Amino acid sequence: MPSTSEDIRRAAGIIRRGGLVAFPTETVYGLGANALDPEAVHRIFVAKGRPSTNPLIVHVADIEMAKSIATNWPAAADSLAQRFWPGPLTLVLTKRTHVPDLVTAGLPTVGIRVPAHPVALALIREAGVPVAAPSANRFTQLSPTTAEHVRAGLGDQVDFILDGGPCQVGIESTVLSLAGPSPILLRPGMIAKADLEAVIGPVRAFDKTNSPSQPEPSPGLHPRHYSPRTRLILGDPPAIGRGAVIVPGFDKTNSPHPHVYLPNEPAGYAVLIYRTLHDLDQQSLDWIAVQPPPDTPAWSAILDRLRRAATPPSPEPA
Ligand code: TXA
Ligand code: MG
Repeated sequence: MPSTSEDIRRAAGIIRRGGLVAFPTETVYGLGANALDPEAVHRIFVAKGRPSTNPLIVHVADIEMAKSIATNWPAAADSLAQRFWPGPLTLVLTKRTHVPDLVTAGLPTVGIRVPAHPVALALIREAGVPVAAPSANRFTQLSPTTAEHVRAGLGDQVDFILDGGPCQVGIESTVLSLAGPSPILLRPGMIAKADLEAVIGPVRAFDKTNSPSQPEPSPGLHPRHYSPRTRLILGDPPAIGRGAVIVPGFDKTNSPHPHVYLPNEPAGYAVLIYRTLHDLDQQSLDWIAVQPPPDTPAWSAILDRLRRAATPPSPEPA
């Protein structure tokens, strides 16, 4: 059932008292706590089973609230926020000292975004504090795009779940660091690198091979992440076992296995991919094979998630 304003008031009270609230955003559902309360933030890590070396994104209602947790607000942040907020863009900026180290995993920077969902914005405004929230799933598992996914995955660990319907973007936000001398794309998302460059000029994509000595700047880049429990193959279906094939709409499959067609453009595909994986994950299949979408910039965020979710093919047992 969709959340009422009474639900939002109740959820905001829980946040203020140090509890955990799952809430909808346009990308995926978040597991939220008062970002300025270290004990509340600690509960997020416990509920998710997430290592405390993974920094959290802090959700704010507007630019003013963003400025209240960042030490400086560069011109690039202002241009991007004007253009893309509320929306699926996280900006990494130098943090103020009152942002607990637990939120940022000890980093001197903090990831901030204004989510484009009326329930999320109402929750943050009503709570009156910035809300730290990772995706509302157990560590390494699939991000939730419905309240039902959250209930199934984390149900008893959360004090309250706000239902805002299915997410309208469907994969996690683009993460861009503005904390260094030049902008670095830390995680691709549906706001593409070219969209950012149209506003602020050249953006560098983080590439570990260019800087092997550097520590992982953004743990969302860990190779295995966002995975269903069922073995996921990005490529041809294996010869044996019971499985299903996910196919972009412009391809035709002659696979003998059950198959699901997804839209043939990235925005529509992104909305449905996690949902489809969640559904197939309930069916006790031996594998899910995803026919790879084209390796072009428009599909890069989707390919990034699929590559991380896929287990490398292993030889079939004889
Ligand atoms: O769309 C989203 O971003 C969703 C919704 C709930 O807002 N949240 C989300 O959070 O995906 P999470 O915790 O699953 O992913 C956070 C990402 C990670 O890749 C993390 O490393 C990066 O943001 N991140 C957060 N703070 C950072 C920082 N200070 N420096 C570098 N990366 C940071
Ligand atoms: Mg996540």
